[in-house]
Amino acid sequence: MKRILIDADPGVDDALAILLAMNSPELFVEAITTVSGNIHVDQATENLFRILGLLKMSEYPLLAKGENRPLVLPLLTAAHVHGEDGLGNVSTLYNQDGNPLYPPADADIADLSGAELILEMVDRYADELTLVALGPLTNIALAMRKDPIKMRKLHAIVLMGGVFREYGNVTTTAEFNIYVDPHAAHEVFSSGIPIQVAPLDVTHQVVLTGERLSAETEEQQCLVSSFLRDSTKACMEFYRQHVGFYGLHIHDALPIGMLTHPHFFKSIDAYVQVETEGNLTRGMTIADLRDSRQERTHNASICIEVDADRFLNHFFSRLIPKSKTNTRQ
Ligand code: BDR
Ligand code: CA
Repeated sequence: MKRILIDADPGVDDALAILLAMNSPELFVEAITTVSGNIHVDQATENLFRILGLLKMSEYPLLAKGENRPLVLPLLTAAHVHGEDGLGNVSTLYNQDGNPLYPPADADIADLSGAELILEMVDRYADELTLVALGPLTNIALAMRKDPIKMRKLHAIVLMGGVFREYGNVTTTAEFNIYVDPHAAHEVFSSGIPIQVAPLDVTHQVVLTGERLSAETEEQQCLVSSFLRDSTKACMEFYRQHVGFYGLHIHDALPIGMLTHPHFFKSIDAYVQVETEGNLTRGMTIADLRDSRQERTHNASICIEVDADRFLNHFFSRLIPKSKTNTRQ
């Protein structure tokens, strides 16, 4: 079993990734830290509690609220994609009895910053802990600034971010997580810690259509099913209007799959650099992905291909296993 710490900005696809990780017996989620990105960190933290509330656990991972803004630049959010509350506005839904439809978990938050909790967990599980980064890399860069030597004891960082051979999703050259905090991304890629990357090039290969989601969730009337439908609705509508299909890409779920089912994925080693200064190319991730057979200096392994059908089947089998009878209240 792999010990992981998830750093996220939940976010609809972050929610799906957290649920997938919590339902993966191959992983033990030791801690979750939040960061500003899709929405401000206060809302991201509230969302994390709502996501964990779906799971009815006796013991939750350690939780900490992270940074409220990127290292250098002002915060840019993506509420227009993920809904005003970052989770398709599920926070506004109530049962007939007036209680929230998706109540937050009764969990504690650590009296530490995100970066401090990251360092504490690296110390506790030296050379063993994998950090899964699903948002801007601010907390991770800050932890590196505080104690770069300790951070070298991370087993690896697996991150969703960047784009290499396609257009970006914020600008033509940049993907959201890197665009929001390019300075943090630059520091992380320069750290010497082993990094695996799930860029847009691969996350775009997995298309979750509204039709597939309805088919999967109609079969299983449980709280997670209704959350999947409710939380993704606004996002799917955004995709219909701006991307050209009714559905969404479940970007952040891919790094979780890369950890549990590496045989679904194909990666190549490369040297990744991040543009922090460019007027037109802020947050661009640059790497030469030609000829993967050649041995060369690298700082990351970049995922370039996924067996999308197998991954999606796996995703649903873990999130809403057929035997689940957990009914909606
Ligand atoms: C990434 O940006 C965010 O909006 C998503 O949660 C994901 O982490 C995709 O570019
Ligand atoms: Ca995210």
